[in-house]
Amino acid sequence: MTPVATTSTVTGRGFGHGKVILVGEHAVVHGHAAVAAGISTGVAVEARAGTGRLRVPAWGLEAAAGDGTPIGRALEAIVRRIEGPALDFDGDAQIPSRAGLGSSAAMAVAVARAAAAASGRIVPAETIDAAVQAAEEVFHGTPSGIDAAAAKSGRTGFYTRAAGWQPTAVLQPLTICVGLSGKPRDTAAQVAAVARLRARLPVAGDVLALLGRLAEDAAVALAKGDVDGLGRIFDAAHGLLAALRLSSPELDALVHAARGAGAIGAKLTGAGGGGAVIALAPAHERDVLARWKAAGFDGFLAEIAAAPAPSPERAS
Ligand code: MEV
Repeated sequence: MTPVATTSTVTGRGFGHGKVILVGEHAVVHGHAAVAAGISTGVAVEARAGTGRLRVPAWGLEAAAGDGTPIGRALEAIVRRIEGPALDFDGDAQIPSRAGLGSSAAMAVAVARAAAAASGRIVPAETIDAAVQAAEEVFHGTPSGIDAAAAKSGRTGFYTRAAGWQPTAVLQPLTICVGLSGKPRDTAAQVAAVARLRARLPVAGDVLALLGRLAEDAAVALAKGDVDGLGRIFDAAHGLLAALRLSSPELDALVHAARGAGAIGAKLTGAGGGGAVIALAPAHERDVLARWKAAGFDGFLAEIAAAPAPSPERAS
């Protein structure tokens, strides 16, 4: 944890994972499938007796429940549902904010878990879910829920609005290159832009359905260990997302640089417009990071763990 300027006792801790959407962003908002992977890094939060303040120094973030800012409203939404003592929260963020990596969901999950731990009661999982969803609605309007599900799980999962999060089989571990465009993304604005495009150009609905089908194919490729197939799916998904006007010059530059450095597939991840890309580049991951660095973009590697096929009773 980042040292904090207080000596009062920590009464609760919580962690939320960052995530990458492998395939199916935006499609999932419209009822289709998506596949996302929680990553090992995320946001760690400590709770102490206090007055409802939240600080995340890595993001330059300071807010208080009820201060009228989106963060303050989200914090208020969480603590109202968890119903515990008045607390302050200090967050250690290991992922960038507003980069398409699920930072708001990771923070909401970490705060809700820390508040639940500090309450001294057993807080039902549904209460934590409702608190996180309420916070995500403050940030993103009508989110599909996939970011929150990945932030809680930390694993790889197949998600639809109807069926929720289902852990998926991953035959072999994967290293994903994550490239940062340096431009913040605005999920609510991007989701609204896709809805407008769909109203104006009905075929955009078919493009969203195709993205959902690619997500289904991606789940099969992950289960079979078909890394090459997954790379092809990434490329096809990026083309379809660009057709929905979700890419940007920076995101396209990152994708093309990755392919030039040996990636077998690359795509934007998350809401698009800004944010991040992901690339699959077996044995060339360092080359991709170096190519991005030379082009002025930061990046890092995220590991996706192998996972067995879940038995039905473990599917949550
Ligand atoms: C954002 O990480 C993913 C989107 O599909 C929005 C959502 O699912 O709520 C763009």
